[in-house]
Amino acid sequence: MILTEKKLFVLETAHTGYAFRVTEGGVLQHLYYGSRLPRSEDYDSAPVMLNQPGNALLDGDGLCREDLLQEAGTLGWGDLREPLADVTFPDGGRSCDFRFSHFERPEEASPDGLPSALGGETLKVVLKERTHELYLELYYTVFEDEDVIGRWSRLINDGKEPVWAERLMSLQLDLPADAYELITFRGAWAREMEFVRQDLQGELRWSSRAGVSSNRCNPFAMVCRAGAGEEHGDVWGLNLLYSGNHLGTAQINAYGSARLTQGMGPLRWQLEPGASLDAPQAVMAYSPEGFGGVSRCMHPFVRRRIVRGYWQDRERPVLLNSWEALYFKVSARRVVQLARSARDIGAELLVLDDGWFQGRSDDSHALGDWTADSKKLPGGLAALAKDVNAQGLDFGLWVEPEMISEDSDLYRAHPDWILGHADQAIGRNQYVLDLTRPEVCRYVCDSMKKLLEEANIRYIKWDMNRILGDVFSPALPAARQGETEHRYVLGLYSILAELTEAFPEVLFESCASGGNRFDLGMLCYMPQVWASDNTDAACRSAMQWNYSYGYPQSVLGCHVSDAPNHQTLRRTPLDSRFSVASMGVLGYELNPGELSADRRERIREQIAYYKAHRRLFQFGQMYRCPSPEGERFTMAVAEDGAQAAGVHFAALNRPNPIQAPLYCRGLAGERVYRVTNRPTEVRLKDFGSLVNYIAPIRIHAGSLVEKVADQVVKLPADQLDLTASGEAFCRRGFYPVQPFGGTGFNGPTRLMKDFDSRLYLWTADAE
Ligand code: DGJ
Repeated sequence: MILTEKKLFVLETAHTGYAFRVTEGGVLQHLYYGSRLPRSEDYDSAPVMLNQPGNALLDGDGLCREDLLQEAGTLGWGDLREPLADVTFPDGGRSCDFRFSHFERPEEASPDGLPSALGGETLKVVLKERTHELYLELYYTVFEDEDVIGRWSRLINDGKEPVWAERLMSLQLDLPADAYELITFRGAWAREMEFVRQDLQGELRWSSRAGVSSNRCNPFAMVCRAGAGEEHGDVWGLNLLYSGNHLGTAQINAYGSARLTQGMGPLRWQLEPGASLDAPQAVMAYSPEGFGGVSRCMHPFVRRRIVRGYWQDRERPVLLNSWEALYFKVSARRVVQLARSARDIGAELLVLDDGWFQGRSDDSHALGDWTADSKKLPGGLAALAKDVNAQGLDFGLWVEPEMISEDSDLYRAHPDWILGHADQAIGRNQYVLDLTRPEVCRYVCDSMKKLLEEANIRYIKWDMNRILGDVFSPALPAARQGETEHRYVLGLYSILAELTEAFPEVLFESCASGGNRFDLGMLCYMPQVWASDNTDAACRSAMQWNYSYGYPQSVLGCHVSDAPNHQTLRRTPLDSRFSVASMGVLGYELNPGELSADRRERIREQIAYYKAHRRLFQFGQMYRCPSPEGERFTMAVAEDGAQAAGVHFAALNRPNPIQAPLYCRGLAGERVYRVTNRPTEVRLKDFGSLVNYIAPIRIHAGSLVEKVADQVVKLPADQLDLTASGEAFCRRGFYPVQPFGGTGFNGPTRLMKDFDSRLYLWTADAE
């Protein structure tokens, strides 16, 4: 709900309120963002600093802006914090003073050429620069049920001379003086989403200069009152619908108040008379219930307002991806063999990854030439898709359309289509195509359309394997080079909009060397993202936990891969790899044909189990539950509360371990649930030479006898079976079966090896 009373604006969601007012002189003063207040007057209570402390400045209306909480900070009038908008005027000056002009309530409003969240109620506030014909429009969209507020801004040059936008942020949030902390998610390739918590003092930033939203620092961040935790304390979550460079700033000023801004990364945009520039949409959520509270706003928001179209609410198929099975050694025979074994384990979609197109023997060739390699796939893609379909599987394909190899027909024909100068730093032996050029976008779009039309392709993995370096477009004049990065993103979005409209039922999965472009912008076009090239269960358990602060598991591609793992060389139990991957969109990244029959059977059981509870795994509300040190317990609870799944992952086993209860979250308090664990397996060989303690003959570790005994002897596995109310599971918790910790193993003992996990399922009595 949006209330506009005189000069007071109040935006209310189901549980939160956001308010600002227009001061006497027309400055937008921020008042409040927090829990919803009972009466609109309650919001209108913040002071205005009218005296001049020490050497601070006063504006023409006697207002000291240095510590005024505001909606749109600028430079030059005594506000020393990061501005929302920064403009250079024709005389070179940058002092800028936006004052309230009027407001509107548009039915619909979204930034030009950029994706925006679906629906909501919008307020547009128009500000005018005091001495120039320059307008700043602030857009606020209320997503009531999700407790989320969208923000973006537009700069319009109505003057007679050009001006230059040096910065146009999407969101500014000023918070009153207090102690705050900033939580950001940083990392690198295969190390996506590391949780970084810092005291907010002075100035901090979270940003990417990689040309993409980047694994170096995800756009999602949280600010909290000092000491907030998973389930308590004031937390504000911020995110951006944008896939290029981004910038988030967090500051504490000299008076202890905080300013947060978020938007596109650095740019210099020339605004001709009559022209406008739009910032991408940012979103914010507030919760008094800690980080978990913010996640429970962001998850439904992403599911309902960001992901859209045919796949929005549809269960995603279990796929088998060829990458770690074949790498570049692709041939029609191998792919069909892989499809056969994929069908055998119960997968539904076979994805042919890199290595399928003309001359692609390794990563230094052929990007840009999107035709099937005639030696590897003599019948072409259409015939291959048919063969895969004949196995009862859908066919999916990997592409990397934004890139170009020097050794490609495309480069030979258009060497000028690359972004940057010929002499530049290279990543993965490839250049980036200059998507600021309409003719390049046309080529990319047409070549993708041709692929999708020539074969029965139901899924596309859209990869992007290098960052931008020399950001220079030969197609733009020198004065406009500062626009290149943003124009690249606009070009990309134009391609994605056209393709997803033309092929609405194709499932697109975004990938950029894993999670190098995991953002809400891509998710507006592609319902899921390959979260990381790192599929090691121990790493993934942490990474997926951290992704879940801002993103629901329905958008996370999570695969079970081989052991030892190809990124860490670590061996983790097969069932543990499955349990971890099941809290997302499940896939396999291995060659089932190369596994033993009993491993294949185990995978068959995993996929059958996942399919039986797929809606819960993919769309259940995720909770990060209290977890002992070195362990992680996550739950997904069905919307109607009738079922829940939980994965308990523990890194290192300890002898004689402390037994502590696990506490559930999200279960319906009054309902009675039965919890069981997914039957696990206990292998004789896991005991090594310890079996000789009970074995009638001596069994040597690694010997043939051990191998045979391991196949023949079936050891009992732990089985939990408890019934209690949801309230009891949450408050009193439950004790997993006693773990093996050095001595004594019998039927009910839970054998938790290193990096092991248990998958639990709660089912409620009928209401
Ligand atoms: C990087 C991706 O993240 C991998 O999954 C794989 O598709 C390779 N690219 C292929 O080149």
